[in-house]
Amino acid sequence: MLKLAVFVSGRGSNLKSIVDSIETGKLNAIVLAVISNKSDAPALSFAKDKSILTFVVSSNNNQEAISFFDLSQKLIELEIDLIVLAGFLKKIPDDFVELFENRIINIHPALLPSFGGKGMYGLNVHKAVFDSSAKLSGATVHFVNQNYDEGKIIAQKCVDISDVKTPEEIADRVLNIEHLLLPEVIQFFAEGKVKIINQRVVIE
Ligand code: GAR
Repeated sequence: MLKLAVFVSGRGSNLKSIVDSIETGKLNAIVLAVISNKSDAPALSFAKDKSILTFVVSSNNNQEAISFFDLSQKLIELEIDLIVLAGFLKKIPDDFVELFENRIINIHPALLPSFGGKGMYGLNVHKAVFDSSAKLSGATVHFVNQNYDEGKIIAQKCVDISDVKTPEEIADRVLNIEHLLLPEVIQFFAEGKVKIINQRVVIE
């Protein structure tokens, strides 16, 4: 069973979709820890209600939070197989990324490599997609490297947005897809199907 740590910053609907998929037997994994940069994130309350271990992490010397270094030690102790950034809006420090190389994945609410990078999170992404007049959007799951949204792409799903009237409508359509895509990709990891061959991520 794949041991997961899930990083969240707010609402946590992607965390819920992971937990739902586990509870309904579609995903052979267990969420051993939920980590947030915000102590009042609704996603943390959800995790506590599910009796999942929670941590608040901070890069600054915040008294109520642990450092990324201390967190890395906890995750090693817990023998975490995969770290999932599910709406985590802070940059992960480089040494943490290095320590868990190819074991951190992120879900991004657009079709990378477009509409990614610093500041591109949440509704900002959907506003940029809306303003571009793109007819398709979607969700991307990718490995996390030292640069925002630039790690290798693992899987994508797209959605028709040709008839939307607002960025919020794009957000709703994309979120529905995220809730399908993320558990599906984690299950590929659980089955040992995610490989990097000739610089490309393949599922086989
Ligand atoms: C999701 O749409 C996720 O893709 C996005 O934040 C939202 C979190 O929602 N992440 C990013 O924009 C990262 N660049 P949730 O808390 O309900 O899962």
